[in-house]
Amino acid sequence: MRQAPILSEQIQRFRPDDPIETAATPPASWYTTQSFLELETDSVFQNQWLFVGRRDQLQKPGDYFSGTFLRRPYVVVLDDTGELRAFYNVCSHHGTCVATGEGTAEHFVCPYHGWTYDRQGALTKAPLAGAMQSLKERNLDLTPIRVCQWGPFIGLHFGTPSDSPDTLLAPLIKAFATDPFENIQFVRRVTYQVECNWKVFVNNFLDGGYHVAHVHPELTGQLEMASYRSTLGEQWSMQSCPATSHPESDASSDSAVRVSGHADYAWIYPNFMINRYGPWLDTNAVFPISPRRCLVVFDYFHEGPPETGFLERSLAASDQVQQEDIEICHRVQAGLNSGAFHQGVYAPGFEAPMFHFHRLLHADFQA
Ligand code: FES
Repeated sequence: MRQAPILSEQIQRFRPDDPIETAATPPASWYTTQSFLELETDSVFQNQWLFVGRRDQLQKPGDYFSGTFLRRPYVVVLDDTGELRAFYNVCSHHGTCVATGEGTAEHFVCPYHGWTYDRQGALTKAPLAGAMQSLKERNLDLTPIRVCQWGPFIGLHFGTPSDSPDTLLAPLIKAFATDPFENIQFVRRVTYQVECNWKVFVNNFLDGGYHVAHVHPELTGQLEMASYRSTLGEQWSMQSCPATSHPESDASSDSAVRVSGHADYAWIYPNFMINRYGPWLDTNAVFPISPRRCLVVFDYFHEGPPETGFLERSLAASDQVQQEDIEICHRVQAGLNSGAFHQGVYAPGFEAPMFHFHRLLHADFQA
């Protein structure tokens, strides 16, 4: 992609072929400017599967949910035969967004002039537009978006995928200690608006556990941090750590059950994380809102229905971890905004997953 000179110079400041011991992190402009968010919209998010929802949100024909990923409004629906479909949520008449929120629809009626689309996206009614020649000559149906189910998740691809997530992410599934999706059911969604660039939040996830002892002292006691390991895949990475073995007297405590046995923290390029620990699986989907703001959607799953008290205590413990991460991300963004910080360095023993992320971004910026 041809870049404006200043943008190109800022991309080149990151040198992906340097060894991690001497490499510099991307410059602050990657995290603060509209031009980088525009670049990411077209060169990163356009070319990846993006996990925007869960299959359990759609149970019967007509069930749908809608949203906007950066500037792209979409609606995902089960059609008349129960097949999963997705469309740009954009009316063919003057571009109005047709669907809102989520629910069940017999058809989608544009609120502006009443053009009506069925669950297959076909235009079925255009009130008082009988003489309009384009009704006969042009395809005025909703524009389809590629959609798939992967495990319990629904993915959209706004470009042309090289393959399905089933194929692309098969090695990641193998990297989990056990099948991550077996026996889990959705229990709760929690959403956080975070005042930082979306990559600041992802970086925090990908520092190989470097921040855990400082930011999450309570979590440190639950994990054998000396055994923390990272594995890098083609467009994913996995951080794994055994849980601390508790004395028998503590083995049934909430924290021992919540993070028991083993913890796997998976990341899928560019913005989706899957955490599997004890009886829990949670996902973190990071949606850019502006250069310095993102929305992080946490979906919590559990092996079977959790006991109510344990559920609430576990989610409260998780919320504490998220608040600690959010606070540190705010502080990082403040430094990036300051003009006093240009490029940092990597901690080689920990931050290989983060360097891997930055190299993937750089490759997409250059493509
Ligand atoms: S913009 Fe949708 S019916 Fe006119």
